[in-house]
Amino acid sequence: MTKAKIAVLVSGGGTNLQALIDAERAGKIKSGEIKLVVSNSASAYALERAKKAGIESLTLTRRDCGGQEGFEKRLMDALDEREIDLIILAGFMSILSESFTAHYPKRIINIHPALIPAFCGKGYYGLKVHEAALRCGVKVTGATVHYVNEIPDGGEIILQKAVNIRPGDTPELLRRRVMEQAEWKLLPRAAELVCRRLMREKGKRI
Ligand code: GRF
Repeated sequence: MTKAKIAVLVSGGGTNLQALIDAERAGKIKSGEIKLVVSNSASAYALERAKKAGIESLTLTRRDCGGQEGFEKRLMDALDEREIDLIILAGFMSILSESFTAHYPKRIINIHPALIPAFCGKGYYGLKVHEAALRCGVKVTGATVHYVNEIPDGGEIILQKAVNIRPGDTPELLRRRVMEQAEWKLLPRAAELVCRRLMREKGKRI
């Protein structure tokens, strides 16, 4: 069976990338394989993880590419050269333009550390998401994997998982629990679902 070619876009620690690598190794992602990791930061630890796993990686910064347009052009060339089927944003801290997202309809997915439509959209990234959940006093939060379109965190939802908030939680504690209980499980599961769909559709076209 041909597998969907996956590119993972990262900016930081890469624990979600690691969850994807581990799931592929464990046979939990059967319909896709990670072919490329792209970081928009040269110091991202995620690059080390890619290297250890023997996955090709690239660093593309907006500055080196002369701005957002140049960055997206270089990124698109890298993805298209390798015939990437699915782009996974795993802690990728940059918003992609409408012309980029429209080029890959239902072929880009993102993991967000809250239950969309809560605590999402512009300005809700990293610890800010968990700070907002604690400030609001919700008792349940979680993670969402969704398709990426031109609206930040606004594309169709694929999977969600709830996580309880505990008394005395700090944003850091909550971030860790959301990752362990939701993100690292949800992202590989969503990747398999979407890869399976993409391969099915490709099969029909051939
Ligand atoms: C995760 O919380 C993810 O939901 C968010 O950014 C964080 C990335 O963490 N989009 P990591 O780089 O995968 O460890």
